[in-house]
Amino acid sequence: MTFPIFPKAASTTAVQTDYLYFMLLGFSAFILALVFFPMIVFLFKYRRGKKANRVDPHLPEMKVEVTWTIIPIFISLGFFALGARAYFTEEVPPDGTLEINVIGKQWMWKIQHQEGNREINELHLPVGRAVKLTLASEDVIHSFFIPAFRIKQDVVPGRFTTEWFQPTQIGVYHFYCSEYCGADHSKMQGTVFVLSPTEYQNWLTRGEPKNSLAQSGENLFRQLGCSGCHVNSQAVHAPPLEGLYEKLVPLNDGTFVRADDKYIRDSILLPNSQIAAGYQPVMPTFQGHITEEQLLQLIAYIKSIGNETPQKNP
Ligand code: CUA
Repeated sequence: MTFPIFPKAASTTAVQTDYLYFMLLGFSAFILALVFFPMIVFLFKYRRGKKANRVDPHLPEMKVEVTWTIIPIFISLGFFALGARAYFTEEVPPDGTLEINVIGKQWMWKIQHQEGNREINELHLPVGRAVKLTLASEDVIHSFFIPAFRIKQDVVPGRFTTEWFQPTQIGVYHFYCSEYCGADHSKMQGTVFVLSPTEYQNWLTRGEPKNSLAQSGENLFRQLGCSGCHVNSQAVHAPPLEGLYEKLVPLNDGTFVRADDKYIRDSILLPNSQIAAGYQPVMPTFQGHITEEQLLQLIAYIKSIGNETPQKNP
């Protein structure tokens, strides 16, 4: 029988996180011993009434002070450098990641795959492939935590956060909400299934054929009436969205903004905050009329037409 104190290290960054953790733990234990061991010895050695040499040894105070200031500074800076390196590898996803959306709400996790698969409190992944999560919340702050991958990311209402990791071992792991979010916070958890690439492919294609995320987004684009203004030859003059994704957009105030997920999100919810150059602030806000899941579908659609050439408005 095993009694696991530590979760498995099942992602590419898990090991470096563990090294850092144990180094900090070891260093703290060393300092603790350095202070407390002499303290306990002196407690007995210099106890009142005991014969002991109590003459001031006249240490070179300046030298002692400087030494025990400078050495720990460099040790701390070493930890800082290791931590910063770990932070940057964990914050900057590599190219060609598998993109998955995670939406937290009281009290469940909803997962959307680009292929259209949806799951609740379960996350299926292929082994050996870097995965980028885009996280959104329908209500309050949650936090998405997969101990075996050593990742934890706040999920904040009103914005997207992202996180990436690469699973290294086939297996079943747990994920949790690690930010207190109300009565059933402790039940807001689920299971990660890391499958072989073939098994993952089978999982993706099983069941009824479904719309991809981008197709669902395109349907929404029509249902919500976005196409009425943003598609060619209409009465209202609105910017075309083909070829927009990740490009620089000139704004009315002379600045530029990159058309990333955040910009598209803001354009839908706060349409008057950043007006594309040459257009009027006439778009209504969709705040309150659209869920986080739908927002992510619309973004997937706009991304899918990111390489198309915009048609000129007549
Ligand atoms: Cu969601 Cu705690």
